Amino acid sequence: MAAKKASEIFSKSMIEDVHKWGCLKQKGVSLRYMMEFGSEPNDRNLLISAQFLHKELSTRIARRAIELENLPYGLSHKPAILKVKDWYLDSFRDLRSFPDIKNMNDEKAFTEMIKAIKVRHNNVVPTMALGVQQLKKGMDPKIDYEDLDEIQQFLDRFYMSRIGIRMLIGQHVELHNPHPAPHCVGYIDTKMSPVEVARNASEDARSMCCREYGSAPNVHIYGDPNFTFPYVPAHLHMMVFELVKNSLRAVQERFMDSEKVTPPIRIIVADGLEDVTIKVSDEGGGIARSGLPRIFTYLYSTARNPLDEHADLGIADNVTMAGYGYGLPICRLYARYFGGDLQIISMEGYGTDAYLHLSRLGGSQEPLP
Ligand SMILES: Nc1ncnc2c1ncn2[C@@H]1O[C@H](COP(=O)(O)OP(=O)(O)OP(=O)(O)O)[C@@H](O)[C@H]1O
Ligand SMILES: [Mg+2]
Repeated sequence: MAAKKASEIFSKSMIEDVHKWGCLKQKGVSLRYMMEFGSEPNDRNLLISAQFLHKELSTRIARRAIELENLPYGLSHKPAILKVKDWYLDSFRDLRSFPDIKNMNDEKAFTEMIKAIKVRHNNVVPTMALGVQQLKKGMDPKIDYEDLDEIQQFLDRFYMSRIGIRMLIGQHVELHNPHPAPHCVGYIDTKMSPVEVARNASEDARSMCCREYGSAPNVHIYGDPNFTFPYVPAHLHMMVFELVKNSLRAVQERFMDSEKVTPPIRIIVADGLEDVTIKVSDEGGGIARSGLPRIFTYLYSTARNPLDEHADLGIADNVTMAGYGYGLPICRLYARYFGGDLQIISMEGYGTDAYLHLSRLGGSQEPLP
């Protein structure tokens, strides 16, 4: 039913166009390039940036739409996935029906249009999660989700691409801000203090923990608050928030009904020459070695899935301490997007250490799936 709807709305010629644009090569941008280019947001640069995005976003979005159509195990036909595909096709149509950008009036209209595209795609992650959930429901319960490697790899590519698309749009839109925050170039803070971001993210995670459990373990942060480097604070905030949320949940559940003093979560920020590394350490009991291969998959969480209750709505918009099983894999993608990485080391029976590496080089190009 929904498949028919999509083909009715999107003409044959547009679908051909999607395939044409999807074959073109994507062009990656580095953090350093974004920072240098954006440091002079004059009309000329804004025009160049809009012209680049007009082509680049068409290619990136077309590639994702094609992939969404060719997923294994019938995933492409799940209602939630069809909905996501419609969003991608709508955005592709908006981009290709926009005329060539020749002057600043065109540039302004284009910026409004890509802003709207970003909003249209806001709920892609929970909706995709719902699609995967719909697939899981219809599958043999005995199937080992680790075997669904193809889906795992597709989702990694898909979400990585989404991070890039949103970064490029957000960066372009932000360059129009007449009053940028001090030492900020678009989304990039050229003097970001990782200790400060970690503090804010931990406080946010603790507030959520308090709401859910009535109390929250302490978080101690060690590192020089005056140390800064160029990075995207929103990305780092999201990553530390997810890691601390996991640690809080593990510690809280382990010590909630215990007489023992609840041990704090420790965050250590180290400024190396190549990497800034942030370690989030907890004594929440760790993860069994046999369970470790699953923690980065999109098909696994030990928490009750919030989508179950909200399946009719299509979106679970209430954020909870745990549920999708997306925290770690998405966090690792954000780290890798700018050349970093995420590792989880566990001592079962004691606790977990998460090592978040952020590259200081900033020169490597975005990974282009
Ligand atoms: N610090 C930790 N201590 C113990 N177990 C952990 C820790 N971090 C992650 N895990 C385990 O790994 C699983 C996957 O974590 P992940 O953050 O990806 O998903 P989630 O927390 O279940 O859901 P979401 O983060 O999407 O709300 C968790 O369900 C939990 O079982
Ligand atoms: Mg989590």
